[in-house]
Amino acid sequence: MSKRVRVAVLLGGRSSEHEISLESARSVLQALDPERYDVATVAIRRDGRWELGTGDDGSVAETLPVPTDKVPATLGEVDVVFPVLHGPFGEDGTVQGLLELAGVPYVGAGVLGSALAMDKDVFKAVMRDRGIPVTRNITIRKGGKPQNPFGFPVFVKPARLGSSVGISKVSSPDELPAALDAAFEHDPLVIVEAMAHGLELECSVIGNSHPEASQPGEIVLRSDWYDYEAKYTPGGMELVVPARISDPARARVQALAVETFVRVGCSGLARVDFFVDGDEVLVNELNTMPGFTPTSVYAKLWQASGLPYPDLVDRLCELAVARLERERAYRF
Ligand SMILES: Nc1ncnc2c1ncn2[C@@H]1O[C@H](COP(=O)(O)OP(=O)(O)O)[C@@H](O)[C@H]1O
Ligand SMILES: [Mg+2]
Repeated sequence: MSKRVRVAVLLGGRSSEHEISLESARSVLQALDPERYDVATVAIRRDGRWELGTGDDGSVAETLPVPTDKVPATLGEVDVVFPVLHGPFGEDGTVQGLLELAGVPYVGAGVLGSALAMDKDVFKAVMRDRGIPVTRNITIRKGGKPQNPFGFPVFVKPARLGSSVGISKVSSPDELPAALDAAFEHDPLVIVEAMAHGLELECSVIGNSHPEASQPGEIVLRSDWYDYEAKYTPGGMELVVPARISDPARARVQALAVETFVRVGCSGLARVDFFVDGDEVLVNELNTMPGFTPTSVYAKLWQASGLPYPDLVDRLCELAVARLERERAYRF
């Protein structure tokens, strides 16, 4: 991209990951070189209303931003949108659908890939069908009978959320009903999942049709599992890069990260999370818009793999434009 590029950064959003989005977006805004980019920000409030600017000036739009003399009239008038939004109504295909309708390039996965990765039950079903090894699970609908065919411990999770919200590790039958109730507070669909053993690993992926995997990193915890506190308390987690696994296991993680990215139909970026027990590698989940500050795992893994944060942001904007150009070549 040689001419100045107009970027709209979407930030905030309706999910419980609103604050995390603000942090990610602040980092993206800082990394966008003012020599090359004209940047507009669109803040989505917790109540779902959209505001131009960072939300301090109070210019409220109903569902789409209104124009001012400084800001483009519609999202369709920018060169690329960077939806730095995590969780439901941001990372789940909803905002992506709006951007498809607007016909504007945007960073990250499209409608189906975003929705698929957001739903842990459907994600695992599709990955199993594609031969990608995932943890075993059953699904329970609200009002359904509590059950667990796996023995203990198991993990109980809302099907469509993130940041470990609503998740419990359940060690005995009498804890199961309360764990299900806690998960049903967030979603009418809950999964009960067999516990995986070994190390927790994460691997960053970037690209469109020829994605590349970063060096995988190992998540070292003080807590028993990677809960909300461990994720968002400084020092709650230590990222060890390179991960202390065998070379074949490392190669398998990287190959599965790329394979999962392709099978979900991702574009731009994703972080794929794993459990690795010796030679056994299981995919846990794929995040289409992982935490995106320079100290987030996604960026740290690329830093360790030779791709610094500002280059990452440039590359993702380029990939967004390239994807839309490619898609426009198809007739429908
Ligand atoms: N099947 C499992 N076996 C072992 N640990 C698990 C399992 N499922 C979840 N966990 C633990 O819970 C954390 C959060 O679960 P995850 O499915 O990644 O949800 P989220 O989308 O909220 O990150 C994981 O990072 C891991 O520490
Ligand atoms: Mg996770």
